[in-house]
Amino acid sequence: MFTLARRRSTGLFRGIISVWAVSRGAKTHLDSPLLHLTSPPTIWKSNGPTIPSSRPGAPAIAPGSRQVIAPDVEIGERVVLRDFVNLYGCQIGDDSRIGTFVEIQKGVRVGRSCKISSHTFICEGVTIEDNVFIGHGVTFINDAYPRATCEDGRPQTEVDWECIPTRICEGASIGSGATILCGVTVGQGAMVGAGSVVTRDVPPNAVVAGNPARILRSTTVSVQPGNGR
Ligand SMILES: CC(C)(COP(=O)(O)OP(=O)(O)OC[C@H]1O[C@@H](n2cnc3c(N)ncnc32)[C@H](O)[C@@H]1OP(=O)(O)O)[C@@H](O)C(=O)NCCC(=O)NCCS
Repeated sequence: MFTLARRRSTGLFRGIISVWAVSRGAKTHLDSPLLHLTSPPTIWKSNGPTIPSSRPGAPAIAPGSRQVIAPDVEIGERVVLRDFVNLYGCQIGDDSRIGTFVEIQKGVRVGRSCKISSHTFICEGVTIEDNVFIGHGVTFINDAYPRATCEDGRPQTEVDWECIPTRICEGASIGSGATILCGVTVGQGAMVGAGSVVTRDVPPNAVVAGNPARILRSTTVSVQPGNGR
């Protein structure tokens, strides 16, 4: 089948076939530029309290070939970082796992035994306590009224806007695709439904969902500090 496909294929078709084959774990010999997808993922696991800075003045270092980690990032023990992670000036606690394509900005603190799923964006001003689960593609916000420029037309810089903090308390879970507006506290053990837009504080152990997120019920999750999930 691959031989037939190769004879007839355009570049695009070759790509599609390669993705199909790779998704089934097949080893294909098509001469597609997507063949690099078969290379093994980079999973970087820390064994120390901080990442050693590579060279003085370097803007970022990459423990794995597909990760960007600034020298001022502090990473705990047994932290797992997947491919295409971008970390800047943040702290990641022991035993936490950071998924593919996650970006974490400066000043963010991620506690111990957290799981941050792929494609999530965690901006400056966010604090994530221990044992927190963050689903895929979760977006945090730190500016309630964002503008590209100041009133005089200058491009805005960091001094031109106020970073509004957000806190996700111990043992809380944030469902995939949720958006957490700034200035919000998600209480201990709370659960935020997939796709929710959280505009107000979520009480401890509440289950909330929807846009805007409303309380569905309470949950009795037992948070066990340090045990992770
Ligand atoms: C929020 C959640 C925990 C609620 O679960 P639940 O308590 O079992 O709720 P139910 O399925 O009984 O639904 C209760 C009501 O809430 C609604 N609802 C449930 N989840 C919702 C969501 N994410 N957004 C909007 N409404 C939701 C249901 O439609 C239902 O409404 P109805 O009473 O009018 O029919 C769950 O639906 C959810 O979103 N979990 C997150 C999953 C996730 O993102 N995982 C990430 C890793 S893959």
